[in-house]
Amino acid sequence: MKPSSFDVAVIGAGPGGYVAAIRCAQQGLNTVCMDEWKNAQGEPSLGGTCLNVGCIPSKALLESSENYERAAGKFATHGIRIEGLSVDVPTLMARKDKIVSAFTGGVAMLLKKNKVTAMHGRGTLLRSDNDNTSWQIEVSEGEKKETVKARHVIIATGSTPRQLPFAPVDNVRILDSAGALALTEIPRRLGVIGGGIIGLEMGSVWRRLGAEVTILEALPEFLAIADAQVAKEARKLLTRETGLVIHTGATIIGISAEESSVTVEYTTEGSEAEKLEVDKLIIAVGRVPNTMGLGAENVGLKMDERGYIEVDRNCRTNLQNIYAVGDVVRGPMLAHKASEEGVTVAETIAGQTGHVNLGTIPSVIYTSPEIAWVGKTEQELKVAGIPYKAGQFPFMANGRARALGETGGFVKVLADAATDRILGVHMIGPYVSEMIAEAVVAMEFSASSEDIARIVHAHPSLSEVLHEAALGVDKRAIHI
Ligand code: FAD
Ligand code: NAI
Repeated sequence: MKPSSFDVAVIGAGPGGYVAAIRCAQQGLNTVCMDEWKNAQGEPSLGGTCLNVGCIPSKALLESSENYERAAGKFATHGIRIEGLSVDVPTLMARKDKIVSAFTGGVAMLLKKNKVTAMHGRGTLLRSDNDNTSWQIEVSEGEKKETVKARHVIIATGSTPRQLPFAPVDNVRILDSAGALALTEIPRRLGVIGGGIIGLEMGSVWRRLGAEVTILEALPEFLAIADAQVAKEARKLLTRETGLVIHTGATIIGISAEESSVTVEYTTEGSEAEKLEVDKLIIAVGRVPNTMGLGAENVGLKMDERGYIEVDRNCRTNLQNIYAVGDVVRGPMLAHKASEEGVTVAETIAGQTGHVNLGTIPSVIYTSPEIAWVGKTEQELKVAGIPYKAGQFPFMANGRARALGETGGFVKVLADAATDRILGVHMIGPYVSEMIAEAVVAMEFSASSEDIARIVHAHPSLSEVLHEAALGVDKRAIHI
């Protein structure tokens, strides 16, 4: 049978792939999008890691657990008393699953609406035809195999959790992030290896619901990717208010899983070996690019030494008309970064130009308080020898934060000492996941701290904290 021919074949339907496919189709390109994901029921489910076992289910559980925590503690300060409060884990999980299926089904509808051909199965690059101007891809599911041809290929195969060889994940006692999102009851004692974003978010979910949570982080610094001052405040608040127990500088000596518990043997700097016994252990030590079964070797697709597909700033691989986007290429492993790369590549294929500014991609950690940043940290500016000025303002002095009862944290604006151009904005506090957008817009427009300082911000609003921090760059904050 003659293979079906397309202008573009997209391999992977996560936020990188499905967004790229829709943008291609919007521009009149005949597009196929193939994906091999199956959900827990064994059914095809579009949306990749983000929708199935990442961004969306984790935020659903964070919201539920935060509501419970508020009801159990903070409501009392508003004079609201609740008796007989309890958590119904099956309902909480069913709500999360409903949100996930609404979105995964939504992606299927969006592909259909945009006339993208969706195929279920693994895409494997077979070979090129006509001097690398057209590519053959096998789409396989079990014994079923079909070959498609495409002039352009966008690889968006994502990432998978990094494994620790001495702690095999069984999702019964030793869990990966997907297992941590699907527990059917609240563990009494929960251990987490890795104090990164997943460790903190999933640790917060189960801590708020009542588990004793201990996080073991290998690095001596806590949250080394964030601004050091924010990381220090985060450690203080997550320990004091959320109740997470965090050990940094932890070296794991061994992990053994028994029938009803897991024991982790570890040392922290200068300490004797210690033992942590828990009911469940989450492994959250980063993610690795996923190129399994992609057929990179069949076509000579180049990877870097860490297994990422090598791309230039426009997401072009070493092969003509083959692009790669999202977690499988360099840069932060974030859904919005994957999607923007997908859009850019789709527009490039359609003959336009575009690029993703990796310097203004916002990062958010959805703990309580939330943490968000864009641009350079103070420690990065120091290492680079860039002279800067800093302005900072606490949520404690903000009327809206007081009304919310969420007064921990601050906003910090870093601006070039000579030009005043904003180089980085760092936030820890209530709803900073939403507030960071203003800082991203400002940086994209090369704004100065003076620009933000002169913009009128609504009162009383959390955004006034950014306003005052910008004023603080030139030591003219009003309310402190
Ligand atoms: P993926 O979403 O991983 O999608 C890749 C898809 O390709 C998958 O469906 C896979 O099955 C499919 N595939 C792979 N190989 C093939 C093949 N050969 N043939 C066919 N199909 C294939 N990011 C955020 O920005 N915000 C968050 O709040 C956030 N929370 C997260 C929480 C958790 C617990 C986790 C694990 C991740 C989270 N992330 C978050 C990260 C985010 O999920 C990823 O950055 C994002 O999903 C990457 O998108 P992608 O399209 O590159 O890859
Ligand atoms: P991470 O890179 O954020 O954190 C992993 C942590 O594990 C690091 O602090 C690392 O030092 C530590 N570590 C590594 N090996 C270790 C060991 N042997 N023992 C103890 N600690 C060890 O990775 P994580 O949390 O797995 O998340 C993966 C990625 O998924 C994130 O980097 C992020 O890109 C994405 N994500 C984004 C979210 C968001 O945007 N809110 C939420 C969750 C995930």
